[in-house]
Amino acid sequence: MSNEKSNRRPTLRIALFLICAVLILLGLNTLYSFTNTLRQLDVIEAERDQWQRPVDVLRALDLREGNTVVDLGSGAGYFALKLSPAVGKRGQVLAVDLRKLSLFFLWTRALLRGEHNVHVMVGEVDDPGLPTNSVDAVLICNTYHEFSNPERILNHVSQSLRPGGRLVVVDRGPRAPDTDHAHEVPLTAVAGQLRRSGFEIVRQDDHFIDRPGDDLWWLVVGRKP
Ligand SMILES: C[S@@+](CC[C@H](N)C(=O)[O-])C[C@H]1O[C@@H](n2cnc3c(N)ncnc32)[C@H](O)[C@@H]1O
Repeated sequence: MSNEKSNRRPTLRIALFLICAVLILLGLNTLYSFTNTLRQLDVIEAERDQWQRPVDVLRALDLREGNTVVDLGSGAGYFALKLSPAVGKRGQVLAVDLRKLSLFFLWTRALLRGEHNVHVMVGEVDDPGLPTNSVDAVLICNTYHEFSNPERILNHVSQSLRPGGRLVVVDRGPRAPDTDHAHEVPLTAVAGQLRRSGFEIVRQDDHFIDRPGDDLWWLVVGRKP
């Protein structure tokens, strides 16, 4: 009986060794993919800087040191990481998204860059979960077209803003009026929704980014009275 037991031990050890080896390989592979994605994000964003006009988007938000700014639909943080130095250490960036993985990438990137004023928040489809009456500006870039109920989101955004606070929406519109595409939303429709939600429209640019052979991007700036 005891002989049988001692015979089984080496087999058990080999099995444990193999399980550990597989787990370590899986862990290393995940770490490699993760760091690779971080590197790719930097490359993609450097290219995006050439055409997305981030400086003009930030200017439209009219931010001050110490402000609280929301990046609604932040993804992995293309804008959130640019907003962070704009509001400084005394300010904060609330980065909201539905996707936890995107927010995890943003959280890691902010940590690696020492941007401690970036706070990631998991929102709900119709409710970003923002604090009331305490936000200075909200940016919604390349995300508005994904909202299933934009009016409800706009109501939450309006409640979160201080009087005088700004909402900047940047998105892609159809080049021809009769085209219908899932990733496009007309500026006129969005400006109308902003007005109905109580915003004053302070600026509209229907050719904010107009590159031949590419999508037409517009920008609209709303202000909470
Ligand atoms: C095309 S990405 C744009 C990301 C980022 N704004 C940018 O410009 O790089 C759209 C993002 O909006 C998020 N999103 C869509 N609907 C949302 C909602 N109702 N609340 C919060 N985030 C939302 C998606 O999960 C996705 O990460």
